[in-house]
This record gives sequence, structure tokens and C-alpha cells, in this order.
Amino acid sequence: MFQRFRRNRLNSHLRALVREYHVRADDFIYPLFVRSGEGIKTEVASMPGVFQMSIDEAIRECDTLKALGIYSIILFGIPDVKDSVGSDALDENGIIATAVKAIKRAHPEMFVVTDLCFCEYTDHGHCGIIDHVHETVDNDATLAISGQQAIIHAQAGADMIAPSGMMDGIIETLRTALDGNGFENLPVMSYSTKFASGYYGPFRDVAESTPSFGDRATYQMDPANRREAIAESIADEMQGADILMVKPALAYLDIIRDIREATSLPLAVYNVSGEYAMLKHAGAAGLIDYERVMMETMLGFKRAGADIIISYHAKEVAGLL
Ligand code: PBG
Ligand code: ZN
Repeated sequence: MFQRFRRNRLNSHLRALVREYHVRADDFIYPLFVRSGEGIKTEVASMPGVFQMSIDEAIRECDTLKALGIYSIILFGIPDVKDSVGSDALDENGIIATAVKAIKRAHPEMFVVTDLCFCEYTDHGHCGIIDHVHETVDNDATLAISGQQAIIHAQAGADMIAPSGMMDGIIETLRTALDGNGFENLPVMSYSTKFASGYYGPFRDVAESTPSFGDRATYQMDPANRREAIAESIADEMQGADILMVKPALAYLDIIRDIREATSLPLAVYNVSGEYAMLKHAGAAGLIDYERVMMETMLGFKRAGADIIISYHAKEVAGLL
């Protein structure tokens, strides 16, 4: 006697009844890249459909997002001036603080997450202050200015802060700074398990954050390590993170599952720029059915254990739901 699995696939209504996972518009956080100026909306060659925007355009974009049912965004700032410590990120009138204030004023109901890092703001493109002796990012010196950056974001009105620099101790540092300044209810979503990945290439074009020397392998994780991937996320949970994250997503579905099973915190995945670019360019070349492959990819993240998907596809996905 064999089981007739096909009986449950007989028609679309039955298939819907037995469907195990679903993708919804409110699973998504949509990334936005803001810079100074007015009326600026510049497409990134490597990422068709992704733009650097001035704040007025980002405000307009939020209307589009709301119409699609997307209420969460993550903001990246591109400053006019970069320097060795990323001063613009610590300035209450810098690009990120200005953008958060303007977007929250225009769209109080949007949930605005801020990426907290220094690589877009430093002239060397690394994620913190450089230790010149060792030619790497100085962990503790970077921690010392990260709390300040969190306060700048919080005072501007950010709804959640997402540190992406992979500094050890960052969650404890931010929690202490936030709690000490009356922001004990502001959640922190940690880029807790973030790999040193070739899939970030197109992002560094749009965010103008390619390191001028070396790479990020001394602070981001080795893609070969699974035990360490779990330990990184659990360490951030212990320090008080509210949401954990795996990044990139596609090549790390096993890690998403591992961390899903190691914690009860909500888990986000970052479907990164290179993953988006691969589908976009393959679709444009007529190699794949873009929309179908995109939806299949999103389901893969949900099945692996993701609660939240940060994705450049978010608008297109929501448009299809
Ligand atoms: C900055 C940051 C990066 C991404 C998000 N925040 C790039 C990096 O670490 O170089 C990658 C996002 C993407 O590729 O879409 N720390
Ligand atoms: Zn960074």
C-alpha cells in the first residue's frame, strides 16, 4: 500500500488548504538609501529598481510602500562628507538623523529601522575606527562611539536600531546607552550572524561603502563556520538583542534553521544585494521566470525559519500577493 500524496494536490483550493508556509506583505522590511539634495532618484546599475534617493523622494516612496501594505523600512545614509571616524553618523543634523526626522514627520505610522554602522560614513569604508598598527577595525574604540550613534538615531525618532558592524559587545553597548538615556523601550535588531560575503558587492556600489584597503574578514564571519554562526547569535541574545538576523540568506538556509532552533527570539534574514542582482539580471536575460523564482526564494526563507525578510524584492512581492 502506498500513500497517494497527489490526492492533496488535485486542485488549487485544496493545495491552498494544505499549504504550510505563507509569505505576507508584513513579513518585509524594505531598504532605502538616502542622501542629501532634492528630487534625486538615481538608479544603481548593478541593482535595477534600487535607487539612492533624496529625503523628499524617500518620503514619496513611503506612499508607494504603504499602498502595497509595507510599513517597515530600514534606512541607510550616504553622507556628503566622509572622514576617518564617520562623523556624519554622529551628527544630529547628519543625513541619517535628518532623514529619520523627516520621514517620521511625514509618515508617523511607518516603522523606521536604522542601520547602525560606520562604513558608509568613513573615508576608508570600514565599519569602525581603524587600528593602524593592525590594519583592522578597533573593536572597543568603535564600541565607544557606537552608543553615541544609537542615541542620535533614537533622538531622531527611529523605531528600531539595527547594528550591522559585527563588533563584539555591540548589543550590550547599545542597550546600556539607550537605557541610560530613556530609550529602554527601543528595540535592537542585531545583524547577529553576518558573514564576510561576496554577495554584498552591489550594496557597496549603492551605499558607496567599499573598503579602500583589505576586506571585512577580521570582523565579519567566515562562511565556513556553522558552530560559530550559532554562538554569535546566541551571544547577542544574551546581551539583550530583541531580534536576531542571518545575513546573507540564500547560501545560509541551514544557518537560519540552526538559529531558529537555538532561540525563541524572532529571526530576520537579509536577502542581500547580490542575491537580488542575480535574480534581476537572470530575469532580464530571459533565463528564468523572475516573479516565480522570487516567490519561491521568499518561501525558502520562511521554510528555513525566518520571521522577517529584509529584501529589495519586497515591493514586487507585495504587489503579487
Ligand atoms: C554595512 C552593511 C552591509 C550590508 C548591510 N549593512 C554591507 C557590508 O557589510 O559590506 C549589506 C547589504 C546588502 O548587500 O544588501 N555594514
Ligand atoms: Zn558597515
